[in-house]
Amino acid sequence: MNTLYCKGYVKTKYPVYLSNDTQLKDLHKLLPTPRKRFVVIDANVAELFPDLVKEFQKEGTHIFPINASEKNKSLKGLEEIFDAIFALQPCRDDILIAIGGGMIMNLGGLAASLIMRGMRFYYVPTTLTGQIDASMGSKQAVNYKEAKNWLGMFNDPEFCYINPRLLATTSEREFNSQAIEGIKLCLATDKSLFLESFESLKSLTPHYSEELTSFIERMIQSKIAVVDEDLTEENYGMSMLYGHTIGHAVEMLDHQHINHGEGVGLGMLAAARISCLLGLAEESLVATHEEVLRRLSLPTKIPKHISPSSIIKKLGHNKKNYEGEVRFVLLEDVGKMVQENGLYYRTVPTNIIEAAIKKGY
Ligand SMILES: NC(=O)c1ccc[n+]([C@@H]2O[C@H](COP(=O)([O-])OP(=O)(O)OC[C@H]3O[C@@H](n4cnc5c(N)ncnc54)[C@H](O)[C@@H]3O)[C@@H](O)[C@H]2O)c1
Repeated sequence: MNTLYCKGYVKTKYPVYLSNDTQLKDLHKLLPTPRKRFVVIDANVAELFPDLVKEFQKEGTHIFPINASEKNKSLKGLEEIFDAIFALQPCRDDILIAIGGGMIMNLGGLAASLIMRGMRFYYVPTTLTGQIDASMGSKQAVNYKEAKNWLGMFNDPEFCYINPRLLATTSEREFNSQAIEGIKLCLATDKSLFLESFESLKSLTPHYSEELTSFIERMIQSKIAVVDEDLTEENYGMSMLYGHTIGHAVEMLDHQHINHGEGVGLGMLAAARISCLLGLAEESLVATHEEVLRRLSLPTKIPKHISPSSIIKKLGHNKKNYEGEVRFVLLEDVGKMVQENGLYYRTVPTNIIEAAIKKGY
């Protein structure tokens, strides 16, 4: 088992274990045995991995399956966990293990952080997003009404246990659109990690392989490097939002056909075009973005029914934008973000945004 360390918000560092144990036995060895253990698990994952559930049941762990929907990532979802756990008379030394994708990790992490002012919690991510993104960064949150992730806090898990074998049941489309979020960070911050990862994209699938493990490890390294530099995403950490400005708008305008990663991919391409239109980057940057999207079988064109004006109208609806100002993270080259007056984000004139979007059809 390989161990990496991530900077925490409360702890100096916490371990991120990368295991390939076929039966996840090493996870059970790592977990402490307090008086009570509570597992908050994605209901789909509980069905897909019955042996995982059985192993915890054998040890007397209390299991709470939850449907992984954004609707349940809410105050109501939190309340359900509180009701279930408080009915079992917990004490502060007990632990919570969140098993699932980013939704369950965010919900379980926040629930544990609030129970009796903080119960220890552990992550066992089962999606690629969970393994390469949500595991690091200490962000716990639920949605509030329509607003995504508006209630939350920074708090650290005791450890993350990452096992690529848990991804085998993910669909290719989900997997590829989650991989783009990892590639995005390398593209914005680390040229050598990007080049190594780009090579492996051709043969990457959700099924266990050494290549998949190395890919995940590289993505974790790049996320840890950004978290170490700027955990609260005030400046350098905005790299995590590369491609999100236009990507999020496109996703919102056609969420039935465009998922989050696909939107981010299109948003990255538009951002690369903005860099070129502003004379900050060479055209080859756009070609590299297109090649990445093609390798992951992600869309390279904005659907025709989404008009440039509707995208521009949606751009203000983002919690990283202040008072209508639309912020972009831009690259001047692979692995190098544009920095202006010490800031890694900047505003862009609307005519340039529009011109970049129009090139995207
Ligand atoms: N805290 C952070 O830093 C951070 C980072 C990225 C995303 N997020 C949050 O994470 C959420 C998205 O997470 P996600 O993309 O991991 O997906 P998810 O947790 O929303 O799950 C998506 C779907 O995948 C299913 N699933 C989970 N594991 C599976 C498996 N092994 N096989 C088959 N299906 C499986 C789930 O049941 C669900 O239907 C959002 O709420 C987002 O805000 C948080």
